[in-house]
Amino acid sequence: MTLKYVNESLTFDNIDIQELDQTIQTPYYLYSKNTIDKNVDEYISELKNINSLICYSVKANSNLSILSLFAKKNLGFDIVSGGELHRVIRAGGDSSKVVFSGVGKTDEEIEFALKNNIYCFNVESQGELSRIDAIASLLGVKANISLRVNPEIDANTHPYITTGLSENKFGISQNDVLSVFKMISNFKSLNICGIDYHIGSQIVDLDPFIDSANKVLLLINELEKEQIDLLHVDLGGGLGIGYNNELPISRGEYVRSVSEVFKDKNLKLIFEPGRSIVGNTGLLISQIIYIKEGDNKNFIILDAAMNDFMRPALYNAKHRIIPLIKTNTRSKKTYEFVGPICESTDKFLTKKKFQKLKEKDFIAICDVGAYGMSLSSNYNLRPKATELLIKNSKIQIIYKRQSLKDLI
Ligand code: LLP
Repeated sequence: MTLKYVNESLTFDNIDIQELDQTIQTPYYLYSKNTIDKNVDEYISELKNINSLICYSVKANSNLSILSLFAKKNLGFDIVSGGELHRVIRAGGDSSKVVFSGVGKTDEEIEFALKNNIYCFNVESQGELSRIDAIASLLGVKANISLRVNPEIDANTHPYITTGLSENKFGISQNDVLSVFKMISNFKSLNICGIDYHIGSQIVDLDPFIDSANKVLLLINELEKEQIDLLHVDLGGGLGIGYNNELPISRGEYVRSVSEVFKDKNLKLIFEPGRSIVGNTGLLISQIIYIKEGDNKNFIILDAAMNDFMRPALYNAKHRIIPLIKTNTRSKKTYEFVGPICESTDKFLTKKKFQKLKEKDFIAICDVGAYGMSLSSNYNLRPKATELLIKNSKIQIIYKRQSLKDLI
């Protein structure tokens, strides 16, 4: 992202953030449209000669204005709830390019999705198959079905965000998938359209992607022998980004390598990227409320907390913190950046030799565009933060901070 200091002041897409702080109450999210566009355009250009569809994974960042940027670029969407489908439609998204993932789709959600003609359901169990068939039959429509297979691959990522292991709740096991595919022909209101898998998130190695693609290719070959023809293979999301010193694979290398595996198959490739489109596009700006120095530990108490940004508390994720105004000072002490919430996990980062800071100074927490606002809550009855988008060097409010009234 275009983040740089100009005369010691942090700028983001040429906007001086400290100047913004005079008018906007912290904490707030600040996103760069330029960077979002750049990330999406890279996927689009890498895939231009491949029969493919990008279904942006809405859970990564579900802000209405951000979704509408993707709708304008004709992307599809990967959703996991009726709420997400509703948001996609409101954002101008094309529901015929929506894939519906998740292990627990309710009757209401299935009906809502069928009435909106989504492209397909990524089905995760036999129970779900019969449920979709029953609802589709009541509505007098046919539902497109893709089965999610669990490729039993270790994605080498945080255990909380790995999904392709046999102990995970996701997908149908490789041993059962053939028989479940055969079963589909018994259901009058279902059409087979694809096979789907997703092995986890924040994956920075190529191997798990290639290994899982190869496993799914073997299954596709088995299906062909049984005369079960598919229209697409959905490879899920999961491509990681560089938060600190990780060296993730590029979007281009990822797309080229996995597409190669399926090159002899006449199948549409569906991708469900989330983090690799929005992750590096956002900052969380926060003001220091107090600096508390103790015998053993020193704390910088921010006005942002784990309810605003949950990843450090939930996954022990380390996001860089940088000052809005740079000085040439260095503190000899070690500080923990924490929030005001009454939980000991309400902390963002521990830093040695950070520049000297004082009350009322501002900092930015980096790379919070994915699973930032979308994972936020009202815990401790804290209102949800403002979200701003920088678009052509102008600031647009894309979510207004909740008021106390909104909390009643
Ligand atoms: N498709 C499916 C079926 C998924 O479950 C996910 C993410 C994605 C696509 C998008 O994955 P991505 O490209 O963003 O890695 N809250 C966690 C991440 C949870 C990911 C859940 N599923 C975090 O903050 O790291």
